[in-house]
Amino acid sequence: MVKSREPLVDGHGREIGDLRVSVTDRCNFRCQYCMPADGLKWLEREEILTFEEIERIVALLVSMGVSDVRLTGGEPLVRRDFPKLVARLAAIPGLIDLSLTTNGYLLERDADALVEAGIGRVNVSIDSLQRDRFFQLTRRDSLDQVLRGLAAIGRHESIRPIKVNAVALRDFSEQEAVPFAEFARDTGYQVRFIEFMPLDGDHAWTPDDVLPGDALREIIHAVHPLEPLPREPSSTARVFRFADGQGEIGFINPVSEPFCDDCNRIRLTADGQLRTCLFSLGETDLRGALRSGIDDDGLESLVREAVWRKELKHRVGDPGFQQPARTMSAIGG
Ligand code: 5AD
Ligand code: SF4
Repeated sequence: MVKSREPLVDGHGREIGDLRVSVTDRCNFRCQYCMPADGLKWLEREEILTFEEIERIVALLVSMGVSDVRLTGGEPLVRRDFPKLVARLAAIPGLIDLSLTTNGYLLERDADALVEAGIGRVNVSIDSLQRDRFFQLTRRDSLDQVLRGLAAIGRHESIRPIKVNAVALRDFSEQEAVPFAEFARDTGYQVRFIEFMPLDGDHAWTPDDVLPGDALREIIHAVHPLEPLPREPSSTARVFRFADGQGEIGFINPVSEPFCDDCNRIRLTADGQLRTCLFSLGETDLRGALRSGIDDDGLESLVREAVWRKELKHRVGDPGFQQPARTMSAIGG
């Protein structure tokens, strides 16, 4: 039996309840806003946390009050035996919500195994519903494969809500707004547009590339009227329902409308570094501590100290903002 520990709070009074775990830095896509066309220098196998190590860190954090764990990458489904990790984590008492963010490419293969292993919810990233535009952004001609993956997970009615994440880019996503709204209405999946953040491999982000969520909302509202739903505490998305009651759509606006005030999230990278913000410039080396034989109380202190220093807010758009060296694929979305 794992002992229960004091809640994990940061120096600004925010209680940490949500952990994102990147299980690999590798990916089978090369999305423009994330990776360079040639990919990145991948981590070596020994640098990556083993399933045992991930399980130990997650269990400790759950004993400190983390209840939501999201598995990400890179692309999590490219990690060998990934459903086995899901099964181990799903068995941790106190872990309430175990979810997955995937690009969907391998979901047709893995959907049944993931459900069997105990995944609770799934988010699939799709930036365009048109084959050529999907290719343009992801550099892979795989829209149909991804839609088959989405359908495969959608057949499991226990896995709800299903969310579809679309990164919003200026001069691109305007054209996606209405098709995605109609997709949300037809499928019942919650589509969420995410503002492009400076976490791209090419370091090409500029404020001009951000298409604010409000602009997309107006485009949609003109065709399919929207009504706001109340904001849930610590949620990233502003969610709206279609006024006729058919479906929902959300906007994640980290740049135009930051939600740092009640951010309850921390992140564990594939190589075992704890990050307290997407935009952190420093990390805490849990892998090194684990491999030098630290006990759980020692690990707890290390985590507590790191979390205590969690950034008040991100500085995206401020003069002097420094983009972290890691891209989204190496941090975990
Ligand atoms: N800005 C915003 N979202 C991003 N993602 C990847 N890179 C970026 C970025 N630079 C998204 C992916 C996925 C989630 C994990 O993060 O599309 O939906
Ligand atoms: Fe891969 Fe996701 Fe990055 Fe696209 S955004 S390259 S799917 S990790």
